[in-house]
Amino acid sequence: MEADHYPISELAADVKRVCAQFDDERQILSHVRPLARRAALSKAAWLADRMYSADAEQGFGVHLIHEEPDHTVAIFAVSWLPNRGAPPHNHGTWAVVAGVDGPEKNEFFERADDRTRPGHAELKKVGEKVCGVGDVVALPRGMIHSVWNETAEVTLSLHIYGKHINYTGRSQFDLQTQTETPFVVKMQN
Ligand SMILES: [Fe+2]
Repeated sequence: MEADHYPISELAADVKRVCAQFDDERQILSHVRPLARRAALSKAAWLADRMYSADAEQGFGVHLIHEEPDHTVAIFAVSWLPNRGAPPHNHGTWAVVAGVDGPEKNEFFERADDRTRPGHAELKKVGEKVCGVGDVVALPRGMIHSVWNETAEVTLSLHIYGKHINYTGRSQFDLQTQTETPFVVKMQN
């Protein structure tokens, strides 16, 4: 059997078609999920060595590979340094993440406070999933997760968002200090 060839231009066109067809976020997530898996398993069509570079201070590297002029349908390759990760955060939009190279541990959280104190946030862990090659994590808007690379190698995953995450006003959360602050990531390139 020939290897699948599914370049990012085709993935982006398919995601755009799904977003035009469905308003319901659950429908969007269920249709984008298999596309993300297909692209993750077709890395020869799009993955470049430079996408493994990461910001040492941040702990991961964010490489934009597609977005529409209005920042929708944003697709990134994200590399994760060994024993580094991202704190609990939301995205301000739907998110679909597929493992491309190496496993990444996701932990999922829900808000446990009543959201009446600005900047204050209490979280409770509600699950976890190790996202290996070809595995997909689909997150509705508002879902909170953290990501950690527990391995000794750089890992890489493909991230598809309804909108570029630096334009959604999303948040990160500190479990110790119980605070919510803006989460803007540094981009590679
Ligand atoms: Fe995330």
